[in-house]
Amino acid sequence: MSENLIIQGNTKKELYENLLPQIKSLMEVENDMIANMANVSACLKDTFNFWWVGFYRVINDELVLGPFQGPLACTRIRKGKGVCGTAWQTEKTVIVPDVDEFPGHIACSSLTRSEIVVPIINKGIVTAVLDIDSEKVANFDETDKLFLEELVALFA
Ligand code: SME
Repeated sequence: MSENLIIQGNTKKELYENLLPQIKSLMEVENDMIANMANVSACLKDTFNFWWVGFYRVINDELVLGPFQGPLACTRIRKGKGVCGTAWQTEKTVIVPDVDEFPGHIACSSLTRSEIVVPIINKGIVTAVLDIDSEKVANFDETDKLFLEELVALFA
């Protein structure tokens, strides 16, 4: 991929459709997972201007903060706790339209209003999660789920 991300599209779907091939090319020439997580966070933040985008990796029995873009975040999350720990436990993408309605939501930033967490599954085991926060209520839907699941499969 060129050094510059090309952000193109009028709809969310179009933006993802243009973003994904660029991320694929980027990851084809780099095999360090942390480097790729860092650039994926940057590309998602640049494209959609999300409030917070980042990864938590499963290390021993906790999720540990990995590469991210956005404000300071909590560093460790237990299985089943918060939205991230729930995605880890259920091995499913979790969309939270309103964080105030999600029991046990971990508020790293008081400005976060909605959230999506997508697990990265390697040979049947969750090895990390991608977490994205928005300051808008109900900012995430099936389109995000579809493309973000395709994106995280690149880490599997
Ligand atoms: N809100 C998340 C915690 C991580 S931060 O949003 C960056 C949760 O409930 O798991």
